[in-house]
Amino acid sequence: MLPKLRNGTVHIGRVDLANHLILAAGILGTTGASLARMLENGAGGVVTKSIGPYPNAGHPGPCLVEVEAGVLNAMGLPNPSQEFVDELAPLSGKPVIASIYGGSPAEFRTVAGWFADRVAALELNVSCPHAAGYGAALGSDPRMVEECTRAVCSLGVPVWVKLTPNVTDITACGQAAERGGAAAIVAINTLKAMRISPELRRPVLGNRFGGLSGRAIFPIAVRCVYDLYESCSIPIIGCGGISSARDVLEMMMAGAAAVEIGTAVKDDPGIFAKIAAELYSPDGAFANDLVGCAHE
Ligand SMILES: Cc1cc2nc3c(=O)[nH]c(=O)nc-3n(C[C@H](O)[C@H](O)[C@H](O)COP(=O)(O)O)c2cc1C
Repeated sequence: MLPKLRNGTVHIGRVDLANHLILAAGILGTTGASLARMLENGAGGVVTKSIGPYPNAGHPGPCLVEVEAGVLNAMGLPNPSQEFVDELAPLSGKPVIASIYGGSPAEFRTVAGWFADRVAALELNVSCPHAAGYGAALGSDPRMVEECTRAVCSLGVPVWVKLTPNVTDITACGQAAERGGAAAIVAINTLKAMRISPELRRPVLGNRFGGLSGRAIFPIAVRCVYDLYESCSIPIIGCGGISSARDVLEMMMAGAAAVEIGTAVKDDPGIFAKIAAELYSPDGAFANDLVGCAHE
């Protein structure tokens, strides 16, 4: 039988969350109203779409295709930049985490400054695999991860750093985030991937390649979290392919203190309540007894 978890609020990465289940960046987090709806639907916290230093229209379409057991996207980080700050006004005091990106530590700090006193934490996107000069372009270099983290941490807001799996050793990036002062690590963003249409003889995505998410990447995400748990001491938030209470428990046993859910929410916006109904019980185990237990 699957173990149950004790319900109640949790404190992870210096943020109070209503439960362990968080909306991942970029999925239904593009307006204040959609973020509020996800909290009403049972998410313990919500992460916004990634916001950058300049307004960005994103990549030309097609930007998203369904593939076996997942989704391939190359949205290209579309966002209105600073204007988005106003969307968060009605959510003051709620567990909202702003995802931000920049092309340098200084740009990260500028964008972070817009949000610092309006959100519970900032999540640094140093991991998007399809935005030239941003995301994984910085996040695959541990030195840059550390510098971006340190630049944003200087504002005094809790900082979560979201890592890319598109590296040989994700633990070097996790340790760099920890050295920079991060309150938590989020693992993982999408895996760089592509499909080609044999009929059209062309890549399917407008950007040619994109990032793979959903069920297909779950075992990779579990392995990344497991490796990070062995080498880092700040909390890890597991992300990638989670769609059931069983997946949440598996991620926790690998070492995740909480989880983020993306692609599965796109298919079922009610998924947080569904997972919570199966995961929690008033006499369930304390999370501390399960997190990382697969390492013993
Ligand atoms: C359509 C789409 C848009 C995304 N946008 C962002 C984003 O803006 N910032 C970010 O850090 N991650 C973004 N992601 C990555 C997700 O937050 C998540 O890390 C990834 O999809 C793996 O989790 P999942 O399998 O539960 O979706 C996006 C993913 C998808 C599918």
